[in-house]
Amino acid sequence: MSSHTTSKIFVIGGTGAQGIPIIRALVADKKYSIRFLSRDSSSRRAMDLLALDNVSILEGSFADEAILREGFRGCDGAFINIDGFNTGEKAETYWAIRSYEIAIEEGIKFFVYGNLDYGLKKSGYDSRFRAGHYDGKGRVGEWILFQNQVNSDRMGAALFTSGPYIEMVISSTGALMTPTVEDGVVTWRVPLGEGAVPHVSLEDCGFYVRWLFDHPERANGMDLEVAIDHIAYADLAAAFEKVTGHPAQYIDTDLDTYWRYGPRSAIADTPAGYNADPNDKSTMSFRDNFTGFWNLWKYGIVKRDYSLLDEIHPNRIRSAEQWFRREDQRGRELGQGGLWERAQSENWNSILKSVEDMRTGKL
Ligand SMILES: NC(=O)c1ccc[n+]([C@@H]2O[C@H](COP(=O)([O-])OP(=O)(O)OC[C@H]3O[C@@H](n4cnc5c(N)ncnc54)[C@H](OP(=O)(O)O)[C@@H]3O)[C@@H](O)[C@H]2O)c1
Repeated sequence: MSSHTTSKIFVIGGTGAQGIPIIRALVADKKYSIRFLSRDSSSRRAMDLLALDNVSILEGSFADEAILREGFRGCDGAFINIDGFNTGEKAETYWAIRSYEIAIEEGIKFFVYGNLDYGLKKSGYDSRFRAGHYDGKGRVGEWILFQNQVNSDRMGAALFTSGPYIEMVISSTGALMTPTVEDGVVTWRVPLGEGAVPHVSLEDCGFYVRWLFDHPERANGMDLEVAIDHIAYADLAAAFEKVTGHPAQYIDTDLDTYWRYGPRSAIADTPAGYNADPNDKSTMSFRDNFTGFWNLWKYGIVKRDYSLLDEIHPNRIRSAEQWFRREDQRGRELGQGGLWERAQSENWNSILKSVEDMRTGKL
């Protein structure tokens, strides 16, 4: 048995959009047990997780060393997704680094870091591509792999680098890519040009993270960068039409129009992090942060190795059409209606917990 084999995994971000399918995949056959961190054990999402076998909770915040220590202690694995939309980039960096350091001190054997692309570096340090929630993770990801060069026998580490959830194209996600229905046409108005977004499927995130824990020898030191495909929004609209039989379109929208009139115009100048200090000059606004985000996709800065993903996950979702088909069927089975019904604003649901909490006044 590998010295990095794990059985009990401490999860930060477990009640989130990303964390839920990851926890489900880890406990599906009871190979692993989970202790997840949450600020609120009474939330619907926390209670749903606690209804699963092999899942327990630690109540508290990741921005607290004593809580982090308590979370890691007695576990041998960790999946850490620090929510930068709580902290902002600066504090996210600090708590992510402390998480790694405390994990190793508390005896974790394998550490998986929920990462995003270091877009600024990948662009050749061009500020047009600066997105704090990407760079904040990506820098720490590189730092972790660097530490791992000397620490890897004591604690293995891997990066799980994901990207924009495809679920966000039909949910009210903070509405960055939520469609409007205009004269019966489902319409995505986003500043993407001829670019393409390497969307990820949350269900496949569960598979990939499980794979990392199942294969610690190969995963140690790995940066597993995932996506369904690079999806152009004209193709996204065509796939939606094909699956639902309802018309859809993509309208390329310049950044100025997007921020002036688009669905996020009201928060354009607020901090991209609800606990970030608006007076701290390091705090990015939503406008600056997501301008860099859209430019990453518009100009093709982020790459993926799809043949590697085919090898690791032969049954992975490979196209927007495939995802739409599965999601249409899943929604119907759950009584939420098909995709066409779910694209109507009155039926939007929030895939992101933070957005759900804001809508319900909890944040
Ligand atoms: N949106 C995307 O497409 C996307 C894609 C890849 C990565 N990400 C990154 O993922 C992170 C957010 O996770 P998510 O997408 O799953 O969002 P989410 O659905 O809003 O979930 C946020 C999670 O963070 C937890 N959390 C927030 N503040 C916390 C604190 N102080 N202490 C402990 N837990 C805390 C929440 O737990 P409780 O509320 O239960 O405490 C919840 O589990 C962000 O850093 C974002 O950049 C987002």
